[in-house]
Amino acid sequence: MSGALVRPMREDDLEACERLSSRAFLELDQRTYQRDWPEPTERPESRSQDWVRRSAHLLGTDAAGCWAAEVDGRIVGFATSLRRETLWVLASFAVRPGLQGRGIGRELLAAASQHSRGCLRGMLNASQDQQALRRYRLAGFDTLPQVVLWGRVDRGLIPVVDRVRDGGAADYDLMDSLDRRARGAAHGPDHEVLASQFHLLVLDHNTGQGYAWVDAKGGVACLAADNRRTAQRLMWAALAGSDPDVPVEVAHVSPANQWAMEVATAARLEIHPRGFLALRGMKDPMPYIPHSTLL
Ligand SMILES: CC(C)(COP(=O)(O)OP(=O)(O)OC[C@H]1O[C@@H](n2cnc3c(N)ncnc32)[C@H](O)[C@@H]1OP(=O)(O)O)[C@@H](O)C(=O)NCCC(=O)NCCS
Repeated sequence: MSGALVRPMREDDLEACERLSSRAFLELDQRTYQRDWPEPTERPESRSQDWVRRSAHLLGTDAAGCWAAEVDGRIVGFATSLRRETLWVLASFAVRPGLQGRGIGRELLAAASQHSRGCLRGMLNASQDQQALRRYRLAGFDTLPQVVLWGRVDRGLIPVVDRVRDGGAADYDLMDSLDRRARGAAHGPDHEVLASQFHLLVLDHNTGQGYAWVDAKGGVACLAADNRRTAQRLMWAALAGSDPDVPVEVAHVSPANQWAMEVATAARLEIHPRGFLALRGMKDPMPYIPHSTLL
């Protein structure tokens, strides 16, 4: 026993969990980042608000999947997870630096995993943390190395991409179908929270169908398509919206998604290893780029 009390997470825990997560991931980044990357910094205020909004959304849809650990009334760890159809996703998981390695994470993951009962599939983005990887492998997950695509996009390299348009709520049914095909489950209630943080691009044509959630810098935050060429066109359309002076980042590209690395090579983006896609009961989805926490 770790000595921590593991109990259901509450709305009034969210601020403390966000701060804890920001610090735990900063400490992890400081331990694991490549030397030629910019110095890791704490999560900026705007992203903290996104974190709280996303976690509040999960407390609403998946209260039984969200757990907190406390010692003497102070939050020392948490795990949030969601169930979409028959897919279980671990969204976020951290223990306060200094208290890691004492079994608190094991108890939190066991509690959140109860929410996966009846789910054929499981999916999560794992950090480089060896304690995290050990926990996931012991829970039956395969771990596939991912890359991040990064850099400034030279306008002269961007091909003309037609038929990509801005999307909206009327496209959610199409997107749910594409998600079921790629990862075996729709995003369902998650569209709204994604819409509050990203811009939606859609390609819906007889040559292919797909969508991409795009961040403010032109990076792809989540993408699904029914063929590689359509996925590539959507990624180019996202990159075309980037500022030539501001680097874009497309993270969580798994081995089956070489199409994304082809675009990165053509766009002269850098390709760096970072993190793992952890999968249980399913193959590496393709063409698909998972969202960082809603997968
Ligand atoms: C991942 C995390 C939540 C796990 O919580 P924790 O309380 O540290 O985990 P536990 O103490 O329950 O388990 C850690 C396991 O890793 C093992 N471990 C510790 N150091 C290790 C190392 N360097 N290499 C391999 N295994 C290691 C421990 O022995 C233990 O395994 P055991 O239970 O079989 O003995 C926590 O370490 C953390 O917050 N990390 C930073 C944020 C992060 O990476 N979150 C996960 C995002 S996917």
